[in-house]
Amino acid sequence: MTHTVTEGADAEALRSRIAAELERTRARTALLTEVVDDADLMRQHSPLMSPLVWDLAHVGNQEELWLVRDVGGREPVRCDIDDLYDAFKQPRRDRPSLPLLPPTEARAYVATVRDKVFDLLDRVAFDSRPLVADGFAFGMIVQHEQQHDETMLATHQLRSGPAVLQAPPPPEPTVRPAGEVLVPAGPFVMGTDADPWALDNERPAHRVELPAYLIDAAPVTNGAYAEFIADGGYDDPRWWSEQGWQHRQEAGLSAPLHWRRDGDGWAYRRFGRWSPVRADEPVVHVCYHEAQAYATWAGKRLPTEAEWEKAARWDPATGRSRRYPWGDDDPTSAHANLGQRHLWPAPVGAYPAGASPLGVHQLIGDVWEWTSTTFRGYPGFVAFPYREYSEVFFGDDHQVLRGGSFGTDRAACRGTFRNWDYPIRRQIFSGFRCARDADAEQARR
Ligand code: AVJ
Ligand code: FE
Repeated sequence: MTHTVTEGADAEALRSRIAAELERTRARTALLTEVVDDADLMRQHSPLMSPLVWDLAHVGNQEELWLVRDVGGREPVRCDIDDLYDAFKQPRRDRPSLPLLPPTEARAYVATVRDKVFDLLDRVAFDSRPLVADGFAFGMIVQHEQQHDETMLATHQLRSGPAVLQAPPPPEPTVRPAGEVLVPAGPFVMGTDADPWALDNERPAHRVELPAYLIDAAPVTNGAYAEFIADGGYDDPRWWSEQGWQHRQEAGLSAPLHWRRDGDGWAYRRFGRWSPVRADEPVVHVCYHEAQAYATWAGKRLPTEAEWEKAARWDPATGRSRRYPWGDDDPTSAHANLGQRHLWPAPVGAYPAGASPLGVHQLIGDVWEWTSTTFRGYPGFVAFPYREYSEVFFGDDHQVLRGGSFGTDRAACRGTFRNWDYPIRRQIFSGFRCARDADAEQARR
């Protein structure tokens, strides 16, 4: 890869864009850690999650390691706490028993680091060093903090007790998307070389040839998922993989996480409030095994990661791959339900401006979508800047999720962005859509 040098007015514009992204991100981190008291910040709300105060100081520590020390070559702010906030040295379940910085100290620490980063940002030359070209390391740190903001939002969803987060409900539907969309056979470019803040696992761009397939025009809704439940889907091993059925038995799964029976129907708990399940919203808080079982019951399958990306990026008019389903422009509130603007997925049909040219809706935002692909490097993958971001997770243990959720910030979401998790996880904002092979007649069209 060649790294361009950014100078003059372009460098000033990049500096202000980075500053704005850092501040916007920190405002969200502050909110997520200010709405609960100190005891609550120190508590572990689920063995799957860290105490919120760990996420807070970990965000600051990564910023110190990469920006203050590495890019800036400055003295450490605090090197005594690196191990405490190293995610590989400290498994999540053990984090509450660590001698963590208490909230006041954690806030002071992240503020000191941020002051040094702003000082550095004023002086840094965006030269051709890979870490600073195009402001990459700053972009990586913005995305890292945004990813932890989504993790902290998932912790809030797991917290018991009264509601502390507020947001307006997502927009109402204005269109009815088709059931399925046919994506014609042919090649498309997957991944990117051009997006300066794309992470290592999104690179390099490479050509992928796919046969024709059908993909759902919208994510699977609560209403459709409730039919699977009502049809005995959770009690019929025919729909489940062997591994999925075993997990369903051991974990006693019978409905999405946060659902309970409510008369003849269902209710869900969202950030401390119970309400009746709304049928036209994408289902959220299902694991990969549940998604796969539903798809089999429906006579379909989950899309591969490549099928998801072609549906999201391929422009039939030009054959080019774009950054988003709607084109190359950054997401606005008209395109997608992102950025914690709302606290749950929007009903299907609420974002017509975000649809792809072929009419596939809500690929970006609302819910992360499980794919049938396990997480691997693309051909020619090179770990950058550290193996622990992506490479150590490659293999058969993690399934790829795509598209971002209502809890994902636009800085950490694009048509090429790859997320991954264990197939049994469902505390994340995960849903899915289905796909199937086109039949011979459809494939000829
Ligand atoms: C890409 C969401 C799987 O949260 O484990 C945060 C992102 N990496 N800190 C995660 C991440 C290091 C990562 N995911
Ligand atoms: Fe992290």
